[in-house]
Amino acid sequence: MRHLLSTADLSRDSAIALLDLAEDMADVSNREVKKLPTLRGRTVVNLFFEDSTRTRVSFELAAKRLSADVITFSAKGSSVSKGESLKDTSQTLAAMGADGVVIRHSASGAPRVLADSGWIDAAIVNAGDGTHEHPTQALLDAFTMRKRIHGVASRGRALDGVRVVIVGDILHSRVARSNVWLLSTLGAEVTLVAPATLLPVTTSTWPVAVSHNLDDALSTTPDVVMMLRIQAERMNAAFFPSSREYSRQWGLDDDRVARLPADTMVMHPGPMNRGLEISAGAADSARSTVLEQVANGVSIRMAVLFHLLSGSDS
Ligand code: CP
Repeated sequence: MRHLLSTADLSRDSAIALLDLAEDMADVSNREVKKLPTLRGRTVVNLFFEDSTRTRVSFELAAKRLSADVITFSAKGSSVSKGESLKDTSQTLAAMGADGVVIRHSASGAPRVLADSGWIDAAIVNAGDGTHEHPTQALLDAFTMRKRIHGVASRGRALDGVRVVIVGDILHSRVARSNVWLLSTLGAEVTLVAPATLLPVTTSTWPVAVSHNLDDALSTTPDVVMMLRIQAERMNAAFFPSSREYSRQWGLDDDRVARLPADTMVMHPGPMNRGLEISAGAADSARSTVLEQVANGVSIRMAVLFHLLSGSDS
């Protein structure tokens, strides 16, 4: 694997191998000395054209734990704000010797353009592109599910038969797309729940079931309920009922979470709109894995950088 652009590119074996490698990286993160010398002398550039907290910081931490040199570059405050193109920006980074480029961009497909362009000879990692994909988020979500469900016997395991309900703004969610491809590759059964205006028409060709009724979906006692952020910045009023109506019909509130089995996981990729798609009680409940997901994100990103840049597999 030269780049990580989409979870659709991962075979079942390669996905399991990445999750297993992340287990090794989690062991490193738990040590007193958290560093590995593996990527000493390599340069990782975090190229963020869109805002981020979790992904940007965890890629930076992951690269540092592998002893790489790291440059984090935000479009704000760079020459991109003076109109510099993706081509010129990436060629500038190539001239500085970047070995890996982690890119977040508002345009769906921007990481693929960079990987296919020949502008830069570096491994490209998609850190979220428009409404398309966010593969490391899906990997850290799968890692979190596997760890909760299989515990210390996780290594080598997939997610066969695990029932996952993904709820909310599917239309604009790159997290949903990456999760649908990865979870189905790993054998999970996925149900999408959303108002009709927040479901892409293409879901009829996806390996998922679809529902518009959250209470019906929750009554099937799923293993995982993954709530998605309402992406107000990407939609207009036609998509969205009202906050109150949305919350009433599709929000995971305290009553709904209390009806779930005690071992049902409540996931959210963050950032959360508390009180809209998820109540504070649900977000902070014992079922919630929100902070575990963040912590596991470092291990997954270490695994991805290690895999792409260490030269151990190409
Ligand atoms: N989940 C996620 O991608 O969060 P950030 O936007 O903070 O990186």
